Amino acid sequence: MNALIIGNGGREHALAWKISQSPLVKRIYVAPGNAGTELDSHLENINITDIDLLIKFAKEKDIDLTIVGPETPLSKGIVNKFKENNLYIFGPTREAAQLESSKDFSKKFMERHGIPTAEYATFTNIKFAHEYIEKKGSPIVIKADGLAAGKGVVVAMTNEEAHNAVDLMLSDNQFGDAGARIVIEEFLKGEEASFIVICDGETVLPLASSQDHKRLLDNDLGPNTGGMGAYSPAPIISPEVHSKIMNDVIFPTIEGMKKDGIKFTGFLYAGLMIDKNKQIKTLEFNCRMGDPETQPILFRLKGDLFKILFDASRSRLNEHNIEWENNSATTIVMAAKNYPNQPRINDEIIGLTSKNPDTYIFHAGTVVKNSKILTSGGRVLGITAKAKTIEEATNKAYELINNINFEGAQYRNDIGKKAFK
Ligand code: AMP
Ligand code: GLY
Repeated sequence: MNALIIGNGGREHALAWKISQSPLVKRIYVAPGNAGTELDSHLENINITDIDLLIKFAKEKDIDLTIVGPETPLSKGIVNKFKENNLYIFGPTREAAQLESSKDFSKKFMERHGIPTAEYATFTNIKFAHEYIEKKGSPIVIKADGLAAGKGVVVAMTNEEAHNAVDLMLSDNQFGDAGARIVIEEFLKGEEASFIVICDGETVLPLASSQDHKRLLDNDLGPNTGGMGAYSPAPIISPEVHSKIMNDVIFPTIEGMKKDGIKFTGFLYAGLMIDKNKQIKTLEFNCRMGDPETQPILFRLKGDLFKILFDASRSRLNEHNIEWENNSATTIVMAAKNYPNQPRINDEIIGLTSKNPDTYIFHAGTVVKNSKILTSGGRVLGITAKAKTIEEATNKAYELINNINFEGAQYRNDIGKKAFK
């Protein structure tokens, strides 16, 4: 069978790497892919991003399953359009993807269906937004309504920061249309975790838990990014917390969507805040796998991901269980100079060899030019390792990073540390 994977990040390299292990799959195309998917002999990059051209390609090449990595094509209705053309695709429709593509939609949805989340209000009027901040005080969180690649959220520790964020979004237009409407919400304390499930509209299969590191710098300082590193599993998600998340967040979300007349198929990602009393609140939904969470999660997955997603796209997820290796995995992101603002590109990367079966270098913002591998985006590589414990896996990943270099590379030195105890 033939598979098509949409996207060009570390998540898509990891999806393609895992799918290529399936004995069922003959050809795997990645659109548009990166240097990692180009150099892997099992994979083939195709330089197409337009949805109508992807549909034409899928028909010509007899694609049996298309898997969508990122949120943008989902929010543009790639799943609706593939289905209208009788092509099998795994992901949510445009309507279902609003859980991610509009913070206001997702907050109203959670309110309507009793899913625990932070108290909030939505604004398009700048004067009312400033007044609300004065009334509530800081710390407080300001979010652009639309998609902003993980960067449209400001956790303001002072009223001044909060007012500035409102000005940037509502009057300076820093996030364009995505920030023309904002959500202001209560600041939540606790530890974050990412909880991702696969859903075919009826059956829900949870993936292993994971934890991302959103801030650019060590000790959770600096600006929010798309994610600077992740590990799996997240020890904070004990079996008890796991059931609570399923019962209080995941099932009510799938059921709530159904009640609203929207069937949810695809990956559903709940970003959670868990406080010291194990109270859970939903920070956000994503309608796709996380990046970089996908890398350590899939590095631990036993079994055939292609078969699972193939069956999920045909409403047969109930025939599957998912099994995990009894270990931990860590991914450390190496980012380009000046990420997340204006990442510099075209720096040559050296030292990209990983020979140990317990390590892998997933590519993200990379490109092959004149037989060299160059940086081409903000997050460049996801250095991944697995071992018995998170600490050992993390140490192994840092050992591998020592051999890899490009001008201006930045990475955090404390990935996984919170979970070492
Ligand atoms: P989001 O895109 O909504 O997940 O927000 C990005 C990041 O901002 C989250 O991963 C948290 O680290 C932080 N964040 C978002 N909402 C809140 C909140 N209500 N309280 C504290 N931190 C938050
Ligand atoms: N790593 C967070 C995300 O993918 O949204």
